[in-house]
Amino acid sequence: MIRILSRMSALALVLGAMTAQAQGADDHDQALIERGAYLARAGDCVACHTAPDGDDFAGGLAIESPFGAIYSTNITPDPDAGIGRYSEAEFAAALRKGKRADGANLYPAMPYPSYARLTDDDLHALYVYFMQGVAPNDHQPQQTDLSFPFNQRWGISAWNWLFADQQPFEPNEQDSDRVNRGRYLVEGLGHCGSCHTPRGIFQQEKALGDDDGDDYLAGANLNGWLAPGLRGGGEDHLGVAGWQAQDIVDYLATGRNAHSAVTGEMTSVIENSTSHMSREDLAAMAAYLKTLPVSDSTDIGSERRISEQKTDQTEQQLRDATALDEGARLYLDNCNACHFADGRGGSGVFPALVGNSQVNADNPTGLLHTMLAGAQLPSTSERPEALMMPGFGWRLSDKEMADLATFVRQGWGNQGSPVTPEDVKKVRNSMDAREGFSGNPEATGANHPDDRAGASAQ
Ligand code: HEC
Ligand code: HEC
Ligand code: HEC
Repeated sequence: MIRILSRMSALALVLGAMTAQAQGADDHDQALIERGAYLARAGDCVACHTAPDGDDFAGGLAIESPFGAIYSTNITPDPDAGIGRYSEAEFAAALRKGKRADGANLYPAMPYPSYARLTDDDLHALYVYFMQGVAPNDHQPQQTDLSFPFNQRWGISAWNWLFADQQPFEPNEQDSDRVNRGRYLVEGLGHCGSCHTPRGIFQQEKALGDDDGDDYLAGANLNGWLAPGLRGGGEDHLGVAGWQAQDIVDYLATGRNAHSAVTGEMTSVIENSTSHMSREDLAAMAAYLKTLPVSDSTDIGSERRISEQKTDQTEQQLRDATALDEGARLYLDNCNACHFADGRGGSGVFPALVGNSQVNADNPTGLLHTMLAGAQLPSTSERPEALMMPGFGWRLSDKEMADLATFVRQGWGNQGSPVTPEDVKKVRNSMDAREGFSGNPEATGANHPDDRAGASAQ
């Protein structure tokens, strides 16, 4: 009797251990899937692999290139429409080397030159997530169809050989774990350099990592819109160089901080990617960026500093409100209520215009875009309220816009060059060419005060 009982309990023990093991495997997979999902956020896969109003990861977003539109593909595990037949090795080759499972080269619109940094562990977690954590979707996105010679995918091999030679990440021994983690995320999954590093004549990023010199993250123009330099710096410098690490963390988490509020293409990066990352990882990225010495090749020259004295002068001029030039008068009428006479706005609510990268950019396109069309801050989990700046395109003429922009670019010690009415006209036209632009929903057809007979600012 005792023997039978003990056998029974031995059996129970074995069975118990087996179920625990199965349970453990499930937990293990679940943990891997969650880690993969997090890494997919850090890599912002969803931003490119999702069409407007399309399902997540089902592909079809048109990415403009100088050679024509390149469409992202379906990366859900559907065996026919998606990547369900990809082995882990094929998936790794796509991410790190830009090789499709059939051996063809991917266009570098897919940021594999950066993803080459991925460690094997992270690749594995991403693979498990895309195969088990994402629902298959049979949507067949539009195929990329570039003209000759850009449809010759084999030609990309030479480009890869010249420009995409990154190796998997190796930590620098002299750096802290935190800085190494930050470098891994910025150079690799974050692919921050794909927008913030200037490109050469072959559309290659001039530097893929900080080993390649001070072009890396030195700032670049995206269709005239500045993706500002992100390199380190000191206290009173313009732009990110003058931010504290904590300012960078706040910006990446919520799209706003005491200096700036996000507009343009960075909005989607924050909404889809960085606002979902842990504070530790954001702090690691910020700590790493702060280790990069300021570069002279930044678009907003980092040697430029803001002078307190000039900041006070402009504030006084606006407060006295006498002998105002046209630009200052327009500022008081249109902008002062939110950005204030000191140009410093309200921290985390209305961005500062003093020392702001967009305001000081050599090319005024980004600033004019914001002034014409307005902007909306993304809603993030930490800062759910979506703040708006109204557009002024419907109410200010090209001349008025130019005077106002010039005032903002030169007031308070800012150091942007003057703006001409022709500059404004160009940006206005390029925006009109895209559907749906209106500074004011009620003012359809009134985007061009200049075109209206006898138009004047009321
Ligand atoms: C900046 C845009 C962009 C981002 C970000 C991006 N991709 Fe891509 N990806 C593309 C484009 C565009 C293609 C198709 C390129 C082509 O057709 O040559 C592609 C192709 C692929 C392919 C090959 C698919 C096939 O159809 O054979 C895989 C796999 C892939 N991406 C996975 C990912 C993963 C995983 C992430 C996130 C870690 C990611 N991508 C992030 C733009 C992007
Ligand atoms: C798709 C292009 C793109 C990618 C990818 C991108 N950025 Fe940006 N980023 C921009 C643009 C454009 C701006 C300017 C936004 C503005 O003018 O309000 C910007 C602004 C910023 C700013 C604020 C700069 C300032 O002076 O106001 C920071 C900080 C920043 N990005 C960090 C990052 C980091 C870190 C990454 C990688 C995780 C990254 N960005 C990836 C396009 C991009
Ligand atoms: C009703 C309040 C309000 C008014 C009036 C207003 N703004 Fe803004 N402004 C905002 C808010 C809120 C943002 C942040 C929106 C965003 O970044 O998406 C912003 C953003 C900006 C930015 C982008 C800053 C950055 O860091 O990228 C600039 C430049 C700017 N405003 C200039 C102006 C000018 C010039 C005027 C007058 C023509 C003006 N604003 C009028 C509220 C306002």
